[in-house]
Amino acid sequence: MPYSSSSSPLTQSIAILGLGAIGTLMAWHWREHTLYGVSRDASTCHRTLIDQQQAAHQLTIPAWQHEAIDWLVITTKASATLDALQSLQKQLPQVQNILLLQNGMGQQQQVADWLSQQRYSATLWAGISTEGAYRQSAEQVVYAGSGDTHIGLWQAQHPTASMPNGLTVVDDIQQRIRAKLAINAVINPLTAVFRCRNGELVSHGEYRQALEALASEVQQCFTALQQPLDFDLKERSLAVAQATARNQSSTLQDVLHQRPTELDYINGYLIRQAQQLDIELPHNRRLLAQLSE
Ligand SMILES: NC(=O)c1ccc[n+]([C@@H]2O[C@H](COP(=O)([O-])OP(=O)(O)OC[C@H]3O[C@@H](n4cnc5c(N)ncnc54)[C@H](OP(=O)(O)O)[C@@H]3O)[C@@H](O)[C@H]2O)c1
Repeated sequence: MPYSSSSSPLTQSIAILGLGAIGTLMAWHWREHTLYGVSRDASTCHRTLIDQQQAAHQLTIPAWQHEAIDWLVITTKASATLDALQSLQKQLPQVQNILLLQNGMGQQQQVADWLSQQRYSATLWAGISTEGAYRQSAEQVVYAGSGDTHIGLWQAQHPTASMPNGLTVVDDIQQRIRAKLAINAVINPLTAVFRCRNGELVSHGEYRQALEALASEVQQCFTALQQPLDFDLKERSLAVAQATARNQSSTLQDVLHQRPTELDYINGYLIRQAQQLDIELPHNRRLLAQLSE
């Protein structure tokens, strides 16, 4: 259930770790907060955000050093999360809240386990966003489509923090992340294997058949894990693919740019979860194998 905080969100201080596409977009949304960045070389970050009216906004984001902050927001790809966080070990006692604003699953629990082993007291949040952004160059990011960003506590606790601007707090974030993961688990690997735009998964007979088989397997997997999806995944995936027909999925873009994909934290996560119950996911496995060739 959304709730709003009583104190002004603009008093919040935020450091963003991962100033790529979504990190730069959030930095622009949060430009009136006290804002810091974490780059690989600990230097000030200079970014340009091209908004939806094609206006260019220059952002200068000072490096986060030892300042106490309300929020550390991590917007790296899922696979980079734990290493990136561990590289900030000395500064973590200065952090009230950590928000993982990423797709995929697996990294949240890795971080939760590590924080608890290290006895850090920061509160862990997870979030998902339907905002869209892409990098035109290392320092230039294009705001491709506006959307919503929902966050929630990773482990059940009473939420007490004041929020950065524009975030909606919900009490079912894990369920929402699972729902997004399920749709990504269908659309992303198929568009990457077939090298097609999202809409072709609906219009092309063979691709649509593959979508239906994969959606059925993913739906059954969540049911077996006793986390059943409360929607028909085949229908939802077809609807999302149709609504985003012209889009290239992030996995297809990663493959085309020869970058690592996030599928190990999407389909790979499902395969590992299912394995614990001795359940095989042949469609998921085959797609991952095809993409790793
Ligand atoms: N882009 C979108 O529209 C969108 C929308 C919703 C959700 N998401 C999710 O958001 C996450 C980030 O996606 P993205 O598209 O923003 O990826 P991205 O453009 O690749 O940005 C990730 C950034 O993290 C940086 N990084 C990685 N490890 C680091 C470290 N140890 N220290 C400092 N910086 C580090 C990367 O730097 P280098 O460039 O040096 O590697 C890069 O700037 C993903 O989980 C994605 O699925 C994205």
